[in-house]
Amino acid sequence: MLLKKNKEIDVNNIPKHIAIIMDGNGRWAKKRGLSRTMGHREGSRTLKKIVEACYKLGVRYLTVYAFSTENWSRPKEEVDDLMKLLLEYLKNAERELKGKNVRIRVIGERRNLPEEIVNEIERVQKNTEHIEGLDFIIALNYGGRQELVDAVSHIVEDVRAGLISEVNEDIISQRLYTSGIPDPDLLIRTSGEMRISNFLIWQCCYTEFYFCDVLWPDFSEEHLIEAIISYQGRQRRFGGVK
Ligand code: IPE
Ligand code: IPE
Ligand code: MG
Repeated sequence: MLLKKNKEIDVNNIPKHIAIIMDGNGRWAKKRGLSRTMGHREGSRTLKKIVEACYKLGVRYLTVYAFSTENWSRPKEEVDDLMKLLLEYLKNAERELKGKNVRIRVIGERRNLPEEIVNEIERVQKNTEHIEGLDFIIALNYGGRQELVDAVSHIVEDVRAGLISEVNEDIISQRLYTSGIPDPDLLIRTSGEMRISNFLIWQCCYTEFYFCDVLWPDFSEEHLIEAIISYQGRQRRFGGVK
């Protein structure tokens, strides 16, 4: 599907790393008189389409926010359904992505996750680790503050062990879950909310933000292209003068 808008996209300036806060599943379902779980199910279909679209466009890294450390505060039934959906997603991931060069990596705190999910994460990461193409990073039980707490704990251990004697930005970046992954160029949040909700708080310090009103289950390749075109019209200055 080559869209009219596609013609305006500069294929030589595709953001290398796109991060997405996939928000609005609950409101999408409510509007239709459906359960929130149905909204999440539809949201998971959207994710499959957007991963393919990013792959086609030549995006190098895609990071999506699937479940935050704060999302445990939702009703147990919704959390259980979300865990089931995530498990299903991970189990089917390679089959769905067959023929495409996509490496899957999951970031976030493993400790509170159901064992089945942890096993599935390990399996899918191992099976795709050799693949070079799109790095698809799923933030699951992820919180930016927790990530920093973990990084600081590692630094303290390394200082005590005499492995490092000073702390700098690189030392911190290397101990984040995203170690080795460049910072996002573009962050998209759907559903009209304009906040970061504890997502990649260190990594997004110079990221371009794009907010749109579309609810995540309705987000399409066209919307993604609109976001990229908006990004391409920005002037990134990183504190300098241009
Ligand atoms: C995003 O949709 C999905 C997750 C947080 C897991 P929401 O469930 O937050 O949907 P709204 O914001 O209630 O519409
Ligand atoms: C952020 O959305 C988390 C995910 C999309 C997984 P939320 O819906 O949880 O964020 P808030 O509560 O509106 O800030
Ligand atoms: Mg929400």
